[in-house]
Amino acid sequence: MPVVTIQPSGKTIETAAGSSILSALLAAGVDIAHKCEGKAECGSCHIFVQEGRKSLSRIQREENEKLDTIIGVGSKSRLACQAILGDEDVTVEVLSFM
Ligand code: FES
Repeated sequence: MPVVTIQPSGKTIETAAGSSILSALLAAGVDIAHKCEGKAECGSCHIFVQEGRKSLSRIQREENEKLDTIIGVGSKSRLACQAILGDEDVTVEVLSFM
């Protein structure tokens, strides 16, 4: 089971491979913003993946198009609702809370 480490708090979450980072964070009580409920439409769940990026699902067209509209996007950016966890641990920086 992959472990998600949340920065800057350092909180860790053990979760199941195959779930989105957004689902894992919400299930653990992390109040990450997610205004469109995971449809890749709002961009509010924008995160930086500090470690473990290669273990995540590939960025699909809808996510890429939304990321292109967000100020401050960088090479570590993902939408938490679209990034599906693999078997490896990841470290993420949550940028926006509800
Ligand atoms: S929750 Fe809206 S883009 Fe992820």
